[in-house]
Amino acid sequence: MKTSNYFTAPIYYVNDSPHIGHVFSTLLADIGARTALLEGHEKFLLTGTDEHSAKVIESAQARGMPVEAWAQRNADAFRQTFKYFNIDFDDFIRTSEPRHESSVRARIEQLMATGDVYLGEYSGWYDAGQEEYVSEAKAKQYDFKSPFNKKPLVQRTEKNYFFRLSRYQDVLLALLENGEFKIHPASRTAEVVARVRDGLSDIPISRHSSESWGITVPGNASHVVYVWVDALFNYLTVIDTDERRHLWPATLQVVGKDILWFHAVIWPAMLLALKQIEGNQWLELPRNILAHGFWIREGEKMSKSMGNFVGISDLQRYCNDFGVDGTRFFLASAGPVGASDADFAHTRFIESYNANLANTVGNCFNRVVGMINLYFEGVVPPKAANTTSFAEEILQLSLSTREKGRAFQYDKMIASALSIFRSIDQYVNLTEPYILIKQPENLEQVGNILHDCLEALRQGALALWPVMPTSMAELLQSLGCLTEGELPSYDFGRPVTGGYRIKETRVMFPRYQEAQ
Ligand code: MSP
Repeated sequence: MKTSNYFTAPIYYVNDSPHIGHVFSTLLADIGARTALLEGHEKFLLTGTDEHSAKVIESAQARGMPVEAWAQRNADAFRQTFKYFNIDFDDFIRTSEPRHESSVRARIEQLMATGDVYLGEYSGWYDAGQEEYVSEAKAKQYDFKSPFNKKPLVQRTEKNYFFRLSRYQDVLLALLENGEFKIHPASRTAEVVARVRDGLSDIPISRHSSESWGITVPGNASHVVYVWVDALFNYLTVIDTDERRHLWPATLQVVGKDILWFHAVIWPAMLLALKQIEGNQWLELPRNILAHGFWIREGEKMSKSMGNFVGISDLQRYCNDFGVDGTRFFLASAGPVGASDADFAHTRFIESYNANLANTVGNCFNRVVGMINLYFEGVVPPKAANTTSFAEEILQLSLSTREKGRAFQYDKMIASALSIFRSIDQYVNLTEPYILIKQPENLEQVGNILHDCLEALRQGALALWPVMPTSMAELLQSLGCLTEGELPSYDFGRPVTGGYRIKETRVMFPRYQEAQ
């Protein structure tokens, strides 16, 4: 059955230009959305920019620019970056848009009506860089310094609107424990559960502000909605229309481990609060949250002060040498998809490219197509009458690849897809069509072997399509299994057919030799 699937990436602060971390979060969401397409479902992918942050005002001021112009410039940079990386987003939200402002205000009003948002006073330790309050216990544990930028935490007292987070502790805990609300990888669920068990206090969700940058609290224009609460509502703003409401609940919300708390606790609690209101019954919790790890660079943590971020221009250099697809492949296959961090090291990139793309995917394709050209003048030989054990093995690998994709384990999905190509190579080595062909009476047998190999190549190309959409579509097209502009599909795709003349392609993934 065709289902609707809503994938979200975080929305990014526009205080600076994008870097690898932003591309990575968004790429994972794109791979998820494309995996759903491949399974024959409908997908909707959202990303955008988070603009009402104090950091944005500060960085605009530092450049002597009006905040709107600075935000606009960076929002454009994010949008272009995601286009460049072939991220197929269906909408791009900027939190400074009027549609978002009215959506946030309406939701806050609803929460005021239920008493889930109330006026109170707050004193506590504040991490200005992260724009978040830190509990007394945590502040002590961090030695009163931000765990993120090591700057001192500051004591703040404010009259604030609060969200009654404490009210949702038990429900949330139950939903996390019974698996109705899932956080991946599983180790992250345990982490969140442990923290929720420690107890949830109500949280301030507004700040007193003379700035006009931000969304004002309904009924009190001297307060703006806390940037995190403003930001979380973006996921609803975009789909709260008659045409799109069916997309909720989100299939998968991709976030980095640093912002998991907001997505695994505050966000679902706000949804639980909203859902009690007449007309809001559709506001279920998102089905899944994926919290990925962090990229480090050549063994070092990336930071502003070190000035060692892998920026977009760095990534573009890799794209020039290895293609956007080659770069997407490295990020997704060698990146911090699960709980651990991962190193963006130049040698790792080259090794992974040569081993997986040049020697496995590219080589396998060239080898099989090369034999078709030599022995069959480029025309696909007919399919054998019987299914071979090799075809059966490929089918199993393809099924297990799909399973990994549906479990949001994209690194494992890629590893499993690569094993399809490896199996083809092994099968060729084992059956030796290049030796068999020396006896003319073996022509039919060789044809059968190569037909199976081509069909296996198609399965491999489908499996890697979410990660490398351009080159895998090219590969499928050259085999006659996809027409231009058509979407690939696992179940309704066109198998390789005898008699089809294979189209020439560019050399896919040539081996990379480092210049001395
Ligand atoms: N605006 C908030 C998110 C609001 S979502 C409702 C925010 N923005 S951000 O610009 O700081 O970017 C956050 C995303 O970038 C997170 O998913 C974060 O994990 C990711 N990354 C930032 N640095 C990263 C690495 N070094 N490695 C991988 N991803 C990291 O937080």
